[in-house]
Amino acid sequence: MSPSAPSRALWSSRLVFVLATTGSAVGLGNIWRFPYIAGENGGSAFILVYIACVILIGIPILIAETLLGRCGGANPVHSLAILAKRFGFAHYWKIIGWLALSGSFAILSYYSVIAGWTMAYMFRSVAGLFDQITVDGSREIFNLLVRDSEKLIAWHTLFILITAGVVGAGVNEGIERIVKWFIPLLFLILLLLLSYVFFESDIGGGLAFMFTFNAEQLTINSVLAAMGQAFLSLGVGIGAIMVYGSYLPGNVSIAKTAAQVASLDTLVALIAGIIIFSLVAEFALDPAAGPGLVFQVLPLAFGQITGGWVLGTVFYFLLMVAAWTSAVSLLEPGVAWLSESFSITRTRATVIITSLAWSLGLITVFSFSLPELMSVGDRTLFDWLDFLAVNFVLPIGGISIIFFTAWKMPAAFVRTEIGIQTELLRCLMFWTMRYIAPVGALMILIYQLHSSM
Ligand code: PHE
Repeated sequence: MSPSAPSRALWSSRLVFVLATTGSAVGLGNIWRFPYIAGENGGSAFILVYIACVILIGIPILIAETLLGRCGGANPVHSLAILAKRFGFAHYWKIIGWLALSGSFAILSYYSVIAGWTMAYMFRSVAGLFDQITVDGSREIFNLLVRDSEKLIAWHTLFILITAGVVGAGVNEGIERIVKWFIPLLFLILLLLLSYVFFESDIGGGLAFMFTFNAEQLTINSVLAAMGQAFLSLGVGIGAIMVYGSYLPGNVSIAKTAAQVASLDTLVALIAGIIIFSLVAEFALDPAAGPGLVFQVLPLAFGQITGGWVLGTVFYFLLMVAAWTSAVSLLEPGVAWLSESFSITRTRATVIITSLAWSLGLITVFSFSLPELMSVGDRTLFDWLDFLAVNFVLPIGGISIIFFTAWKMPAAFVRTEIGIQTELLRCLMFWTMRYIAPVGALMILIYQLHSSM
């Protein structure tokens, strides 16, 4: 199997690349995870650190990963092999590609199960199930869903099928088509929800929670949580961005697109936070409720608002679309690798990778429905998968990618490829890529290792 790049599709414009990459970045991480992590870590203090992490660590890695994809011109494994060969490095550098591939595959398997909940919740909201519910009632609805293997499998199957449908149709016919429609729709819905809380809810309370700075709340844990969240939210380190970068034409400025994608991603997280915490403030709910914030706390708010079922339905639809475009980018690296390695059609490769990811997803399903059977130590297998992927695979992937780009590849080549015209800015970015980003990422990793011992 020689690592050659067959003739491949290219994005039809820079805009669709920005949309597709924004689709990859904006996901459950922004709307489900960011608000509750911010809530648990004291709101504003966390958010400032988060923004710093996006700028100093996230954007440089985003640039490096796009660059490796575009210069390699193939799936993550072959891109790394091609670059290693081109610059005369040992071929084992392609391990970075393997790591990325296994990370995206593992995350897809459980991402699809959780994304399935968003669909289930959409239907529960339409059916008016949240009307006037109590705290216990909301917990009951959640438990009835996650304890029921059949329901979880059904939603997981449906979600992974709609994801496979897009990837199977191809880069231009599938991915481009949906992001062109659904990413603008996603922003429209966010703005509608934002204007709802502006006029009707306690936006002052939401903004106060998000932006009143309280230095006491800034702990080492919130700093590290912010770094981990930046990785997950931008979706760097596991080949999704790399494979999207491999469809990017040579004349597009990588730095500019990376900055745009990171800004949009952060904007979505902030707007989602404002919407959620305004509702939480209006009904005096618990902002530090943890992972249940979107699935157990928000229904209480929707249940008390007149016509809240419409709001709820639109909200869970938004969450589903965000998860869908991210899942597409998690499936694409594996499909690209399989079809480019064994010369099989994209459709066949999609069927194979989807079936495998679906099967692995059953571990997550049973971790929720039969936690007693599916636990090792004090964690369920799902918790382990998520823990290992987010805390180890993403940072290790990110560090390797930035190290390979900023330290191994010829500096002059990288400086030209990042596509920044102004000399000062280019030097600043290259310097950040060399020193700040890898050191920051290494810190997260060491901390994770230390705290999980
Ligand atoms: N960025 C996505 C989110 O915020 C998750 C993701 C991670 C997508 C890694 C692609 C790659 O939910």
